[in-house]
Amino acid sequence: MSYILNGKRLVLGVCYYPEHWAKSIWREDLQRMLESGIEVIRIAEFAWSKTEPEEGVFTYDFFDEFLDLCDETDMKVIFGTPTATPPAWLTEKYPEVLNVDINGLPYRHGARRHYNYNALVYRALTQRIVTKLAEHYAQRKCIIGWQIDNELNCETDEFHSEADSAAFRLFLRDRYGTLAELNRAWGTVFWNQTYTAWEQVHVPRKTISNSTNPHEVLDYIRFVSASARSFCKLQSDILRAYIKPGDFITTNGMFENLDNHEMTRESLDFFTYDSYPNFAYCLDGYTPNGLRDRRWSRSLSEVRSISPIFGIMEQQSGANGWNTRMEAPTPRSGQMTLWTMQSIAHGADYVSFFRWRTATMGTEIYWHGILDYSGRENRRIAELRDIKTKLNRLQAVAGTRYAAKVALVKDYDNVWDAKLDRWHSRVSWASEEAIFSAAQHTHTPLDYMYIDHADLDALKQYSVLFYPHPSIMTKAREALLRAYVEQGGTVVFGCRSAYKDVNGQCVMEKLPGLLADLTASDILEYSFIAPDVERVSIDWGGDALEASVFTDLVEPVGDGVREGEYTSDYYAGSGALVSHRVGLGRTYYYGTAFNEEAAKVFLKRLGVCDPYADILTVPEGVELAVRAGEQGAYAFLLNYQNAPQTVALQRPCESLLQAETVTGAIELPAYGVAVLKL
Ligand code: GAL
Repeated sequence: MSYILNGKRLVLGVCYYPEHWAKSIWREDLQRMLESGIEVIRIAEFAWSKTEPEEGVFTYDFFDEFLDLCDETDMKVIFGTPTATPPAWLTEKYPEVLNVDINGLPYRHGARRHYNYNALVYRALTQRIVTKLAEHYAQRKCIIGWQIDNELNCETDEFHSEADSAAFRLFLRDRYGTLAELNRAWGTVFWNQTYTAWEQVHVPRKTISNSTNPHEVLDYIRFVSASARSFCKLQSDILRAYIKPGDFITTNGMFENLDNHEMTRESLDFFTYDSYPNFAYCLDGYTPNGLRDRRWSRSLSEVRSISPIFGIMEQQSGANGWNTRMEAPTPRSGQMTLWTMQSIAHGADYVSFFRWRTATMGTEIYWHGILDYSGRENRRIAELRDIKTKLNRLQAVAGTRYAAKVALVKDYDNVWDAKLDRWHSRVSWASEEAIFSAAQHTHTPLDYMYIDHADLDALKQYSVLFYPHPSIMTKAREALLRAYVEQGGTVVFGCRSAYKDVNGQCVMEKLPGLLADLTASDILEYSFIAPDVERVSIDWGGDALEASVFTDLVEPVGDGVREGEYTSDYYAGSGALVSHRVGLGRTYYYGTAFNEEAAKVFLKRLGVCDPYADILTVPEGVELAVRAGEQGAYAFLLNYQNAPQTVALQRPCESLLQAETVTGAIELPAYGVAVLKL
């Protein structure tokens, strides 16, 4: 049984870098961690030179000495493979290992993640260092698991080296067989891009207006994902042969151009995420009305679609920034606890903070951990100890799962197509934000689901699926959705659905293409809404909605029913919403992108809004998340506001943190949290 995520206990950890500190403080650090509630540390993920200081010369004393102390103190260890930071000797001798930018210039030694996944020599040297580390350390008592690399595809998710072009050709030969097929899939007849020899095919390079063939770029992203996955699998296959029974293999972070679901399925025991909620400050300037740190619940929901119960490998515990970029404020009093509970509420049974001591050198001198440079007692270590006390009262939650009846459906084809297609990305971004915010503000628990990694049973856990803009549709997805609807499910589609094939080429059937029959819809015309000048209104049987970003003029066919129509401008009188009864369920085709109000109206009309309203009345600024299992259901109430909030209770509930039954109402202080047994 693995030490963490075993369904039995919630566990706290921290990231530690023995190589950054004098050996004389190791023991004291470990003891202080243990006294503060830390049971696990993650180490070694950037320390290649400590075990292979010169090519082919292996030295193990450094980590042996440190791990001896861990064994002695009973500190558990997650050991990282060091491939995110190749040593200087390596890239100097084998420059083909370096990643290259779109202009053909290599990224040099001096930062991190400057390698590519495909250079054969890097794969061989990776294989060797991982084998050596596993051979030497895997049987250590203190080691409980392994982290592969660090944040695959972080910093950059684009690769343009010669090794990548060579591997891309192999990837394409495998996918298409012949150049004729490749030319067809990429539509190379357009602008005379036809290839007549494989050597002419490269990973994307600099083009006029950066307008590289979109079908080529879509395949390129698939290729980057396959490369990262294969690099991860190369390491996991080695580790599997050496690890002790019960030890696990994972990797951390959720980055783009990477099918994290498939990577987890083929190489990992579970996924871990790195959560820095005050990054919201960099993203939206911390607008007072924005979701701010609460927005991180969206990433956590996405992580949950990969591993229903997951770990947080790095969680923000101080002010953050590199010396060159990024600035995120320190957690205010209570926020470290709030974010820990946010992670747990969404399915984390392990939370590890980044990092124990703040680095005194390097790019991350401002990336504060729990302790500041001096290491003296401070507010954050006091809060860590309090988190541990709180966790002790929540242990019953371990192993339960986030409970939701509504899911937002995605798939990688469409995520990646939207990255390079403005028309697609504008509607996707708007709708995802809107549906997530509507669910948050109405206290409707929401899951994410990647449909290509789900089966009918997985779909049937939900009463309603929002699949907002699947521009690329396949027969397999349509068949799965149809079976779900026939058996009683409801699927809501938005505009721009099913007008592309898997290559990202537009289909010539009547729109919405492969969904025309399932939705009994016919799209007669479509266009953008001019931002700031045009407002387009919709009437849905008395509910006045506003269209956003885009309009499909959609009319019912067969036994489809026109539920709503546009009521303004030249659209007035055209269909805006079509429903279709199929078997026991129903589809909706909504001819525009969702804004928060429209998403709320759907949640209400479909009877899935605020499912705990008969027990709890929760203010908008507080998130409600529920984890449920055989042992019961637990409601997490998370107050993201810098002011107290009151949650009214319709019946008495046991409050786990207060260890008492509360009646009438529960007061949450600023950034406060309550966990109620329902
Ligand atoms: C993470 C990374 C850590 C550290 C931290 C702060 O993305 O895994 O190694 O760099 O961010 O930048």
